[in-house]
Amino acid sequence: MSPPPREHWYIAARSRDLGRRPLAATVLGAPVVLFRTGDGRPSALADRCAHRNLALSRGRVVDDRLECAYHGWRYDGLGACTLIPSLAEVPGRIGVPAYPTVEADGFVWIFGGQTRPAGAPRPFPHLGEAGWTTFAMKNRFEAGALACLENFLDCPHTAYVHRGWFRSARAKDVPARVTCTADEVRVEFDEKPERDSVLARLLLPRGSTLQHTDRFLMPATSRVDYAFGPDWHFIITSQCTPVTDEVTDVYTVVSFRARRIGTLVRLYFEPLCRRIMRQDLDVLRAQTGDVRRSGGPRFTSVASDLVGPRIARLWREPRPGASGSSSGGEPAPVETREVVIRY
Ligand code: FES
Ligand SMILES: [Fe+2]
Repeated sequence: MSPPPREHWYIAARSRDLGRRPLAATVLGAPVVLFRTGDGRPSALADRCAHRNLALSRGRVVDDRLECAYHGWRYDGLGACTLIPSLAEVPGRIGVPAYPTVEADGFVWIFGGQTRPAGAPRPFPHLGEAGWTTFAMKNRFEAGALACLENFLDCPHTAYVHRGWFRSARAKDVPARVTCTADEVRVEFDEKPERDSVLARLLLPRGSTLQHTDRFLMPATSRVDYAFGPDWHFIITSQCTPVTDEVTDVYTVVSFRARRIGTLVRLYFEPLCRRIMRQDLDVLRAQTGDVRRSGGPRFTSVASDLVGPRIARLWREPRPGASGSSSGGEPAPVETREVVIRY
């Protein structure tokens, strides 16, 4: 299975986890060290000293520089070695690779590719906006990024893994429109609001209509919208950072608008989200172990697997017009399909 494309921004850490000490992270399989220079801005370098390859994350930040813990070589925010204590001056150009790094929405993002980033990281929806309440979660999933994204955008599992929380056991036919572009897979459901689930009883005004949209956004973000009229709107956005093939750091921002009682709703909603997330963590951990035990994936996909196979295809065959794709030219045709799924 193809990994997600590297030429994009990925979250390497939460801003609040990066203080005065260097922080080790693994992004797209590569060891990275994050640190803040004197002005507080984050930098990201390959976590390997050029000298004898001790991880730079074992060192410390001194005078705006990252100092290796072994022989004290120092590096600036762009990875250039600026001091070798055992020599009067640094001979020639010595350094370690640096990643383009920005801080936005409370996260430190690094650009995983070799090219220059064409734009900024995609903002999380409605974060910090008036009328919206938001909270964030970080979870390490013992599963690959594709398995995570498919899970976050998959309705049929909810009746089993989250039995009773979202939907009642009585399955119904739900028409769905799937639209696939170079950057996005979008599924719009023509769904009636569920009355029997825990979530519905807690959160829904009577007589509300439901607009439910699931989206995959390149390279590795899922976004789920449940809108019940203009005053009630819940959005769950998860950015997946591949650590290894079988480990993914998932940064989730939940944004919602709930009349004027956002703070009150959060008291119920946040623990509920965490509980639902734990159920997904458990089933994905089990799936990873089971697939490994049986000798690797041999999946059977059917028409109700609306999103996973399309993500795999976008990763495998990036289309012209994709953000970060260097192919340029005409944008790929948009695929639209109507499907009825039962859940
Ligand atoms: S290994 Fe880093 S200074 Fe020697
Ligand atoms: Fe789930």
